Amino acid sequence: MENGMNMHKTMTPAIDLRHLTKRFGGHAAVDDVDISVPPGSFLVLVGPSGCGKSTLLRMLAGLEPPTEGEIAFGGKVVSSGKGGIVTNAAARDTGLVFQSYALWPHKTVEGNIDWPLKVAGWPKEKRAKRIDEVLKFLDIERLRQRYPAEISGGQQQRVAIARTIGPRPGILLLDEPLSNLDAKLRVDMRSELMRIHRATRATSVYVTHDQVEAMTMATHVAVLKDGRVEQFGPPDELLLRPQTTFVATFLGTPAGNLIPVTRQGAALTFQGVALADAALAAGQEGAQLLYRAQDITVGAREGRPRVTARYAESAPIAGQSMVTCLIGELRVTAMVDGFFRAEPGAEVELSFLHEPDAVFDAEGKRISQ
Ligand SMILES: Nc1ncnc2c1ncn2[C@@H]1O[C@H](COP(=O)(O)OP(=O)(O)O)[C@@H](O)[C@H]1O
Ligand SMILES: [Mg+2]
Repeated sequence: MENGMNMHKTMTPAIDLRHLTKRFGGHAAVDDVDISVPPGSFLVLVGPSGCGKSTLLRMLAGLEPPTEGEIAFGGKVVSSGKGGIVTNAAARDTGLVFQSYALWPHKTVEGNIDWPLKVAGWPKEKRAKRIDEVLKFLDIERLRQRYPAEISGGQQQRVAIARTIGPRPGILLLDEPLSNLDAKLRVDMRSELMRIHRATRATSVYVTHDQVEAMTMATHVAVLKDGRVEQFGPPDELLLRPQTTFVATFLGTPAGNLIPVTRQGAALTFQGVALADAALAAGQEGAQLLYRAQDITVGAREGRPRVTARYAESAPIAGQSMVTCLIGELRVTAMVDGFFRAEPGAEVELSFLHEPDAVFDAEGKRISQ
């Protein structure tokens, strides 16, 4: 794991996870996670379904005790493998938003927002003032007397967020809060959540399986796989310097192409075509080369290595075409200027325009600097 956060070393982290592990039976859902983020961060946990994101978030919320390791908020241990849940969920200063908003159906919008304030012991006048504030902030004032069944899904989501930020939690936990919304609404709510984050300055932990969401919103990203952190750092660092093939192919639009190569003499070859210098693989017999879509194009190019592939599909993107081809089972994405289409299955030449962006060993660990 690479940690690019050294500049924050002196600041007490808002959230500090040390060797955090959660086992269900023999299975580690969260496996030895070490992450620290400074106050005000927007930490995104991203990874495929089942990689342990929700389990990690539930431990942060105090809904689940860790099996091993520790969680500290602002330098204070709130959960540990030894002590279980030290500070209970209600006393944690965390607010939680789930994918299913679960508003109280028998309470109005206003009543839903009021309830957590009441539970937290806010006096009536202060509550009324705060309700007005968050209704205004989320632009849902006109809905205040409605019941959840009388408003749209997107509006329900706004109410759920209003309800959560009402008591001004220091840490906001969000578990795939946008995944029930349609595509357009999701993009709008994404900007809205970033506005809320800037305004509240609450340290946020946001769980998603959507890498675009992750890269847009995060100050810090942790890519999880099988309960483990594959890589942790600022989003641009993960995009530019992926430390594993998993990260290289999970992030980015389109994701990077991984080409398996073998050493033949002084070259790393793919299907008998020399792609790169064998020295790049540090003397190993095999390696995986990362090429960005923009490093590969369709058609022969003078002096450039090329391989034969079969055209699969093409998508227009900002004046270019993102062209997907198949080399055997391997899917390769190339960029072509302007509009490009071919018959599915048609033979095309793919030219490699540049040196590989990165080199990984056979196990998927980065070799290149
Ligand atoms: N209460 C539980 N009991 C047993 N296994 C669980 C429980 N909660 C989660 N798991 C398992 O832990 C793994 C991670 O689950 P989860 O954290 O929900 O993943 P994600 O949110 O990334 O999709 C999965 O294999 C899941 O089946
Ligand atoms: Mg989940």
